Amino acid sequence: MSNSIKAGFIQFQPILGEQETNINKLSILLEQANDADLIVIPELANSGYNFESKEQAFALSEKIDNSQFVDFLINEAAKHNLYIVSGINEREDDKLYNSSVLVGPEGLIGKYRKIHLFMNEFDFFEKGNLGLPVFDIGICKIGMLICFDWIFPEVWRILALKGTDIICHPSNLVLPYAQQAVPVHGLINRTFNITANRYGIERGFTFSGKSIISDPYGKTLVTASPDKDEVSFVNFKLDEARNKNITPRNHAFNDRFPSEYKELLR
Ligand code: ACM
Repeated sequence: MSNSIKAGFIQFQPILGEQETNINKLSILLEQANDADLIVIPELANSGYNFESKEQAFALSEKIDNSQFVDFLINEAAKHNLYIVSGINEREDDKLYNSSVLVGPEGLIGKYRKIHLFMNEFDFFEKGNLGLPVFDIGICKIGMLICFDWIFPEVWRILALKGTDIICHPSNLVLPYAQQAVPVHGLINRTFNITANRYGIERGFTFSGKSIISDPYGKTLVTASPDKDEVSFVNFKLDEARNKNITPRNHAFNDRFPSEYKELLR
């Protein structure tokens, strides 16, 4: 596998119920991503976040295989020759999922459905039912988490144990301290992490911006502003995520004792 990838985020403010506006804004911001390999876009970027009702959440959802938003992302991935991870309000039959998709120039590669729902999301979405998939895009392995998943160290660990180099984390973060956890998960699991957050106020929720990129040593490489559109990239040396040695005699994964962790399964 190649050692280097240019990866980053788009931070913006999706407008509730205005998919066309959101697509137009992303299309403008994606022009700044022309020489990147991978870009992460916030949670529920097609629809906005804090729906008035389940009816509104349904009206603003799309089936992944028949989605103007996913088609837009695939066209942009082909145009700019990059991979895109984006949050999407996904409908399947009579159920909604707070999902993210991974697309590339070749089309849809995979999706993840958010496991840990936050506040009003319980009124609209089902818990994710696809586990924690990891996708090999040739250059590297990509895993996805969504927003409130940030507070559960288990899911970051599992993605890392499955060989993920870069954890892409589309977000609509509300709690003001959430960003602090992202580099720590990276430090503990030796992964690159990209949180693409939104900003702005929507029906009583204030979103915190400050999208963040961190490296496998827990170093914050980029923090965005709290309240502006921003597109930012960093070159990752992927070997850094593949070396799990902590000292010559310690290894982040091999030194674990799962037999001592049985309480985690309760
Ligand atoms: C969140 O999970 N959107 C806070």
